This record gives sequence, structure tokens and C-alpha cells, in this order.
Amino acid sequence: MSTITNLTRMWLTRSRKPFIFTNEFDQHLPFEACENLGLYVHIPFCRSICNFCPYCKVLYSKELCDHYIDTLLKEIHIVGRQSSAKKTVTSLYFGGGTPALAAERLPEIIEALKQYFIITEGIGIELHPEDVTAPLLQKLKTAGITKISIGIQSFQKKYQTLLGRKSLDPFAIHRALKTVAFETVSMDFIFALPGQTFEDLKTDVNTAFTHGANHIAIYPFIDFTFTASPLCPMKKKEKYNLLNNITNYCQNQGYTRTSIWTFSSKKNARYSSMTRDNFLGFGCSATTLLRDQFKINTFSIEEYCRRIDRQQLPTSLTLRFTLRQRMIYYLFWTAYSTQINEADFEHFFNIPLKKMYGLELTAAKLLGYITKEGPLYRMTLKGAFYYHYYENFYTLSYIDKMWGIMRKEAFPPHIEL
Ligand SMILES: C[S@@+](CC[C@H](N)C(=O)[O-])C[C@H]1O[C@@H](n2cnc3c(N)ncnc32)[C@H](O)[C@@H]1O
Ligand code: SF4
Repeated sequence: MSTITNLTRMWLTRSRKPFIFTNEFDQHLPFEACENLGLYVHIPFCRSICNFCPYCKVLYSKELCDHYIDTLLKEIHIVGRQSSAKKTVTSLYFGGGTPALAAERLPEIIEALKQYFIITEGIGIELHPEDVTAPLLQKLKTAGITKISIGIQSFQKKYQTLLGRKSLDPFAIHRALKTVAFETVSMDFIFALPGQTFEDLKTDVNTAFTHGANHIAIYPFIDFTFTASPLCPMKKKEKYNLLNNITNYCQNQGYTRTSIWTFSSKKNARYSSMTRDNFLGFGCSATTLLRDQFKINTFSIEEYCRRIDRQQLPTSLTLRFTLRQRMIYYLFWTAYSTQINEADFEHFFNIPLKKMYGLELTAAKLLGYITKEGPLYRMTLKGAFYYHYYENFYTLSYIDKMWGIMRKEAFPPHIEL
């Protein structure tokens, strides 16, 4: 698996140099000049732990959560004060974990961020289905939240049982969603679960759009090595057919494909914390992507608090990009939206995309992975499947390896990917 990602990396970066992450870190984050900057805040608490979930989280306790939020506020001030003027950012996303467990304190966090940042495209939050009650939604709306994403995973009992999740009532969710409106109501599903059929997935998609969602995300199941999930991933051919069938179905229903695995039924419904040119992440395990570097905060809540108490950033590892590394990072995440605009690439790097990757783009066109319309390279259905397929390798060779180490060590000295 790592052979495929290593060869791809060497070919696209035209270098044998791996991605080298080290624990030496900068106290200053050069974000002031970054365009299209997003914000992300990680709240790592859950009511119970799901065995398939790779994210950084622990069981909720009010005391620990309050201490964590006090520390998070300090991190926001340490970073925010580095900008000489208020910085315009696109969006703010709260993820986790189950960030609604800190609902009472979200207004404080948003206020602290607004001292330094002007948010132009709204505020999103991930919700567990148990959070979807009218009083909680109202609290979120009052705090300024405009987009919600609900982790349904499946509406069907057999897959809820497979995933170890409680069954849920789509009618109760719908009633709460009708009481309090949000610009984007997204629902997350996991696909390619053992035995899952197109009919199963179609039923879930229909239930979502008829019970309050205007956007859905269909994530392929990833079997992380460090999770305790007993589930086996689906075979390639079966996954290919399932993905193509559900994509065709959504498009025939008139839903717009807004990214590699999201569809929306409403024009401006969007939920994506990933497709940003640059972002600042706050909280344990949060990542920050800037022009020249990628950094990841420690996964240890204790060490996170200790660093901030010393007025130091909680950075665990930093990767300093070569130009080609930054380019493939840019292209990989931009391709999530299923299209790449050559004018945007040139604006970001000051070099024409064709000059850097003309050969690869021609080959991708000949293989039927992309088409060209004006300045846009659009992914075809075939291209989207292979992106999905490659993304799985990437996740297992890079994210799985890195998170596997960081869950055990707060500040690993060095990681090469
Ligand atoms: C941070 S989690 C979920 C938010 C919320 N705590 C919940 O459980 O409903 C974000 C999403 O990642 C997806 N996810 C989690 N583990 C996954 C895995 N192993 N493979 C694919 N998707 C996964 C799920 O769809 C989940 O809703
Ligand atoms: S899936 Fe959601 S609720 Fe389950 S452990 Fe992960 S973050 Fe927590």
C-alpha cells in the first residue's frame, strides 16, 4: 500500500524526499497574508466511544470539558493576537468528538474568535443524532451557527447494530429540524459496509432528503488499523458499482455533487471544512495548513493544556513543504470538490498549472478521468471512483500511520511519510 503512495509522491513531487514531520515548532504562525483562510475548532468529547471512529476523543466529563474550553480560549488569544488587524476568514467549523456537549460554551469560543477574525461564510458544527432536539438546535442558532452536519451513519437497524450505534427516529429528527432552520442541514452516511446494497443506500439518501436534510455526505468506510472495529471493508468491484449507482441516482434526482462524496438538494447548501486553501486549527489534534507548512497539534488533552499554560503553541509535528509538495497537497484537497480551476492554481502559486503538471493532465484526460471546460478540469465518474480509491490508500498510509503514532505519543520526535 505504501509503495503506491510513495511512488505517486516521488513522481508528482519529482523528488525522493518524503514528507518529513518534526517536533521543532514556530510560536508564530504566518497566517496574516493567507487568502481563503478557514478556521477549525476541535472538541474531543463523546458520550460513548464508537469502535470504528479514528478521531481524537475521550469520554465526556463536565469538569474536563470545562478545563479544556478554558485552555482553548487561551490558545485562540495566543494565535489571534499574532495578527496586527482583524483577519477575514471564510468559515468556522466545530468538529470532534461531539462539540454540542460544549454547547453552553460555544458563544464564548465564537466571541473570542470574533475578536480577531471576521467570518464571512457562516459557522458549522458536527452533531450526533442525540443532539438533534429543538432546544439544543435553538441554542446553537442563537450562538450564530448556520450549518449543521448530523452523523446519521445509517437509518437502518442492521447497520446501526454493525456500527454499534443506537437506533434513531428520523421523524423526531425531522420535527426538531422543522422547528429550527439552518442554511445547511447535512447528514453523514457511511457506505461500503459489509453486505450494504444500493437499495439500502438509496433508502438512506431518500430518508435524509425527506426528513430535513438539504445536503448529504456519503463516506466510504475506512478500516483504521488502530480502531477496534470488527468490520471488513468491501471488495473493490462491489464498491465501484455501489458508488457509481448512488452517484447516478443522486444526479438523476437533481442533486448537485458538491464534492467527491457530498450532494446537495439546495443551491447554497455546503458543508466542508476540508476544501480550504489555508486553515487554522485550534484544540488538540487540530491541523493547520498555511502557505509553507502543515502542523498538527498534540492528541493528548493533558499535554495540550500544559503547553498552553506555558503560553506555548500545542504543536506536536510540523511539515515544511517544498514547492512541489505544497502543489500536490493543494491539488489533492482541491480535487475533493471534483474540479480544479487552473486560474486559481496560478493565482496561488504564480505558475501555470499546465507548466507544472501538463503531462499528468493530458494522461488523465486520455484515460477518461477528467474533462476540460474553460479553466476547469472536471472529474468524470470514473475519475471520481479512482480518486476515492486512491484516497483510501492515502488515508491508510498517511493518516492511519500518523494518528496511530500520535494517539500514543504526545510529541513524537520525527515522522516520515
Ligand atoms: C467526527 S465524526 C461524527 C460526528 C458525531 N460525533 C457523530 O458520531 O455523529 C464525523 C464523521 O466521520 C465519519 N466516520 C467516522 N469514522 C469513520 C470511518 N472509520 N470510516 C468512514 N467514515 C467515518 C462518520 O460519518 C462521522 O459522522
Ligand atoms: S463517531 Fe462520533 S460519537 Fe462516535 S466516537 Fe466518533 S466522534 Fe464520538
